[in-house]
Amino acid sequence: MSEERGYVVVGERAEDQNDIEELAYEVLVGLSSRPKRLPSRFFYDDEGSRLFARIMRLEEYYPTDLEHAILTEHAAEILQCMEGRSFNLVDLGAGDGAKTMILLRHLAASGADVTYVPIDISEGAMRGLVATIREELPAIRVEGVVAEYHRGLQWLVRQRSERSNLVLFLGSNVGNFDRAQARGFLGRIWSALRVEDRVLVGFDLKKDIEALLAAYNDREGVTAAFNLNLLTRINRELGAEFDPSAFRHFGTYDVNTGAMKSYLVSLEAQDVRVGALDRSFRFDEWEAIHTEYSYKYLRSDIDSLAEDSGFVQVSRFEDQRGWFVDDLWRPRKGD
Ligand code: TRP
Repeated sequence: MSEERGYVVVGERAEDQNDIEELAYEVLVGLSSRPKRLPSRFFYDDEGSRLFARIMRLEEYYPTDLEHAILTEHAAEILQCMEGRSFNLVDLGAGDGAKTMILLRHLAASGADVTYVPIDISEGAMRGLVATIREELPAIRVEGVVAEYHRGLQWLVRQRSERSNLVLFLGSNVGNFDRAQARGFLGRIWSALRVEDRVLVGFDLKKDIEALLAAYNDREGVTAAFNLNLLTRINRELGAEFDPSAFRHFGTYDVNTGAMKSYLVSLEAQDVRVGALDRSFRFDEWEAIHTEYSYKYLRSDIDSLAEDSGFVQVSRFEDQRGWFVDDLWRPRKGD
C-alpha cells in the first residue's frame, strides 16, 4: 500500500505491455469471430470511466438515481448488519464511488472503525476517488486496489485481514455477467468470505421496455460515445485505424433472457487495419460487433442466484417504483 497515493496497483494494467497483449488477443479473437464481439471490460480506460460517470448522471439512465435513493433511505439498516465490528467496506467496481459515499458518510458520522477498499480497473477513477474521500471524509481510511475485480478479490483474500468484510457489488455490475457467470463470480466472493461477512448486490429488475431502451440509447449520445470509445482505445493502444464515425451505437433488449445488448454497427463495407496485429478485419455494411450485455432480473431470479451461489438473503431493499434492488446476503457457512 502506498501511503501517499492511497491505492495499490495489482496485476496487469492498461499501461502494461501485458494488458495491451490481452487487448490484442481479445481483438484478434473477437473480430475474427462470427458474429464479431469485443469484451466489455475494455470500456473502462480513463476516458471510458469519465464517459460512464456522465452516463450515470443522465436523466434516462435510472439505475444510479434509484440505487442512490435506496442507499440513502436504508443506509442505517444496511450498515446495522456489521453490528459495530471493525470492517473493510470492499467496493467492487467502485468507479467514482458516488453511491458508496452515502454509506461512508454514515459510517464517518457514527465513528465506525471502517477501512474503505475500493477496487476498480481505472487508475484515473481511483485517483479521483481517493482524492474525494480524503477531502470530504478525512476520518475514513482508504486502501484502494487498482485491478479488475476478479484479481482485486484474489488480492483481498491474500490479505487475510482480521477485519470483517462488507462487500459491495453495486450498480449493474452483476448484470454484465450472464446467469452462469454471475453464479460463478458470486461463488468466488462466497469462498473469499467468512461467516460474519456480508455482501450487498445491486440488481436491475425487468421493467417497462421503453425505459430500458431509453437508458441505453440516450438522446444526448453519451452512451454512443461510450461505446465508440472502445474503438478509439483500440486505435491508440493497438495502432488500429478505426473511423468511429463509420460505426453507430445500437442498444436492444431481449425480453426472454432479460439481456440489454449493445452493438457497434458498421455503416459501410470497410477494411480496418490493426497495426499491432499486422492485419486487417473486413466489415460488411451493417455488420455488427457485440460489445455488452446487461442482464435484468426478476425477483425470483435473484432468489435462485443467492441460493445457487451459497448465500442466504438477509434483506431486500427496493426503490419505490420497484425498478431496482439492493439485496443483502450472508454466506451460508456452517448452517
Ligand atoms: N454495464 C453498465 C450497465 O449495464 C454500463 C453501460 C451503461 C453500458 N450503458 C451502456 C455499456 C451502453 C455498454 C453500452 O448499465
